[in-house]
Amino acid sequence: MKLEINDLRKQFTGPTGPIQVLRDVDLIMEAGDSVAVMGPSGSGKSSFLHIVGVLDTPTSGSVQFDGVDPFSLNEQGRALFRNQNIGFVFQDHHLLPQFTVLENTLLPTLAQKSNRATPDDARKLLERVGLGDRLGHFPTQLSGGERQRTAIARALINRPSVLLCDEPTGNLDQETATLVADLLLEVQGEAVMIMVTHSPEMAQRCQRQVRLSGGSFVPM
Ligand SMILES: Nc1ncnc2c1ncn2[C@@H]1O[C@H](COP(=O)(O)OP(=O)(O)OP(=O)(O)O)[C@@H](O)[C@H]1O
Ligand SMILES: [Mg+2]
Repeated sequence: MKLEINDLRKQFTGPTGPIQVLRDVDLIMEAGDSVAVMGPSGSGKSSFLHIVGVLDTPTSGSVQFDGVDPFSLNEQGRALFRNQNIGFVFQDHHLLPQFTVLENTLLPTLAQKSNRATPDDARKLLERVGLGDRLGHFPTQLSGGERQRTAIARALINRPSVLLCDEPTGNLDQETATLVADLLLEVQGEAVMIMVTHSPEMAQRCQRQVRLSGGSFVPM
C-alpha cells in the first residue's frame, strides 16, 4: 500500500470562529514504512490521524491509498474501506466492556464479506500478543497493558495495510509501553504505520520522525 497525502488542510469551527488545525501537510509512505508523529498537545496529531483513518474528512487536499481517494466514496463505502484497510489503535483502547477478549478481537471481522478471519485466527493472533490464556476475560478483568494488547489484536485481525496508533502507550508504565511498542513493530509487517507519541524513545523506534508545528510537518 502506498499512502500519499498532499496539501492536506483541516479547519474546525470553534465557538469563537474557525480554527486552522492542519495546513500544507504532505506525507508519502510505502509498504513497511513507519513514521512517528510528535508535537505538543493541541498541535493536531489526533485530527491528522482521524483523517488518515477516514474517521473524519479533510477541509481540502488529498489523501490517497494506492491511488484511491476514500473521501470520494459515500458513507457506506467509507466504512467498508476503513474496515478492509485500516487498523486503528486508540490511546484509550475503546474495547467493548460486555464482550470478551476473543469477541472484541473478532468484532471487525463481522463486516467482512469474504476471507473473513476465523475465531481460530483470532486465537493465534491473541497468542502472538501474549494473551493466549486470557481469551475469555472481559476488559475489566485485564491490566492496562493487556487491554492495549487486545486493542492491537483487534486492529490487526482484518490484516490492514495501514496501521494507525494514537498514543498507544500513553496510559502505560514504561516497561509495558516498551513491550507494546515492540509488539507493534513486530506485527507491523508490510503495513504502513503512523504512530502518534509524546515519547522520544517510542518515536526513535520508527523509521522516520516528524513534528507537527503550526499545522504542518517539520523534520526533527
Ligand atoms: N471537533 C472539533 N471542533 C473544534 N475544534 C476541535 C475539534 N477537534 C479538535 N479541535 C481543536 O483542534 C486542535 C487540535 O486537536 P487534536 O486533538 O488534533 O490535538 P493533539 O495534537 O492530538 O493533542 P493531544 O496531544 O492533547 O492529544 C485543538 O486545539 C482542538 O481544540
Ligand atoms: Mg491527541
